[in-house]
Formats: sequence, structure tokens, C-alpha cells
Amino acid sequence: MKKIILLSLMVLLGSGVAQAEYIIKFSHVVSWQTPKGRAAQYFADEVNKRLKGKVKVEVFPNSQLYNDNKVMEAMRLSRGKTGLMAAPSLSKFVKFSRQLQAFDLPFLFHDLSEVHTLADSPIAAAMTAPLERKGIKALGFWDNGMKVFSIKGDRPLRKVPDDFKGKKFRIQSSNVHAAMIEALGGTPQKLPFKEVYTALAQGVVDGQENAWSNIFSKKFHEVQDYITVSNHSYLGYLVVVSADFWNGLPAEIRTELEAILKEATAKNREFAAEADQGDRKKVETAGFAKVVDLTDEERAQWRAATAGVEDRFRDQIGADLLKQIHTLLGH
Ligand code: LMR
Repeated sequence: MKKIILLSLMVLLGSGVAQAEYIIKFSHVVSWQTPKGRAAQYFADEVNKRLKGKVKVEVFPNSQLYNDNKVMEAMRLSRGKTGLMAAPSLSKFVKFSRQLQAFDLPFLFHDLSEVHTLADSPIAAAMTAPLERKGIKALGFWDNGMKVFSIKGDRPLRKVPDDFKGKKFRIQSSNVHAAMIEALGGTPQKLPFKEVYTALAQGVVDGQENAWSNIFSKKFHEVQDYITVSNHSYLGYLVVVSADFWNGLPAEIRTELEAILKEATAKNREFAAEADQGDRKKVETAGFAKVVDLTDEERAQWRAATAGVEDRFRDQIGADLLKQIHTLLGH
């Protein structure tokens, strides 16, 4: 009798897991409440409803499954009917596309609408083309927002290079970011996202740069003294999936997934706009770190200090590509 119960339980559980012909594991490193977390959940909910029995999407937030570097390796190796999907920050793709480093350049974009002008253009599609040869299929650009700087210390970051001197800043695995921190006068240190809170709390680094939703959801503001609203560069994502898995899907399923992803991208932009204002307010209301805005003059100094970063990466990114981007953005 016990055996029968056990067997039926196994069948039940088994059928629960294998509810769909194809499984997509969506792995990301941030909180579910960020623009990426919410868009990934939207995508999963809609696929699970509209493609029930055919495709099931499971979302793994907070680096539960992989960090960003590992996920791309795992993605390239994944086979069969389970596909890995992720949306790592554009700053983490240098191994796969040097062109995408353009998105990291300081003061390239005035605001998110300029980012969208580029992300929605054929130029951006060309920037992702090298990925497919490496087993990764790019599906779309998602936003987080413009980045601000936080710091522990006796004053906010305003004057360059003085306020950055002697301070260590956590950055993502981007050489453009490293060059930018050095140009501002600080010392960069690359660390995975999931180590940032502890590194700030324990003083391994003094500061970091990120978008508001990451600062708020991971409580960085609770262990920092000042946040400078610099909006100096962009934090956004490329939604990617195992190319083998994607190309092996029946065409009609792929078309439906693409349509749902397009909706999720539109939602992501709404979520990002909400977070930019909403999470800044939450950080201000929480009262831990004091939020300061740069004056126009200070901003001009930051911009001048970092102007050489683009020159340094011009050959890597592609001089023609950079020209096209500037023409598109009109500055
Ligand atoms: C970071 O490492 O700061 C970001 O890439 C995290 C994220 O995915 O927003």
C-alpha cells in the first residue's frame, strides 16, 4: 500500500514538473522587485498562461541559480528541451561583443529616451550579431536606468578628482567602467553583484555606482553615507537565451515567445520609469544615505574628466560604429 502511495506521489510530482514540453529557466541576479525582475516575471506569467502545456518558464532571481558570468557559460553548453535565459547587464558582454561596450561609455546618453533611440535601431541589432556565433541568441534590450554613485565617508562625491581620490569603487566586469573610475580619480574593483552589499558593509570598497532600484532593493543605501545623482551612464540589459535551444523550438512556439517578449520589453520600460522616480524617493525617505544632485558646473567637470574614455576604447568598439551612434543621437 505504502509503495502504491509513494508511486502515485512520484507520478504526480513528476507530471507537475514535466507539465510542458519545453522548460525555460530564466536566471537573473537582482531582486524580483526591480524593472528586470518584474519584466522577467511578466514574461513567465504570460508564457505559462498562453503556452500552457507547451512551454513553462521558471524565474530564478537574486543569483539563486547563476551569477552573470556563469550563466553565459552554462547557456552556451545547454542542450535539449530545457533552455537557459538571462538578462545580464550590457556591461558583462565584452567577451562576446566588443561593440556593446559603447553602452558603458560615460555621458554618452542624456537620458533613457536616447538609450531607446539606440536600442531600437538597426545599429544595436548589429552590435549583438557576434553573440550568435558564440552560442547565444540576443532577444531584446531591457532597461534598469541611469546610474548614480554612492559613497561612505565624510562628504558626497562632487569634486573630481578630489572626492574620488583614495576611494575604492565596486564596478561590474567592464573595462570601460574601470577606465571611467580611474579618470574620475578613484580605484576600481570588479566584484559580482551578489557580493556588493557585504563589500560595502565591511569596507572592502568605499562606494559603487548603480541604478536606483538596485540600490534600494539590495539596501546599499543603508551602508553608505551619500548618493550623488550623477546619471553619468546607463545600466541596461540584453535578454539572451541558448541559441541551440531557441533555434530548435518549433517555429510557431518561437513566434509566440517573441511576441510575449516584446510585451515584456514594453512593460520593462514602464517599470524602469517608475523605479527611477519611485526608488529614489524610497531611498530618500529611508533616511540612511543623503541624496545630493550635481550642479551643472560639477557635471561638466565630471564629463570633461571622463572624455578620454571614449578615445581609449574607440578602436575596440569601432570608430565607425561610434560615429554612427553619435549621428543617431545627434551629439
Ligand atoms: C550589477 O552587477 O551591478 C548589475 O549588473 C546588476 C544587475 O543585473 O542590474
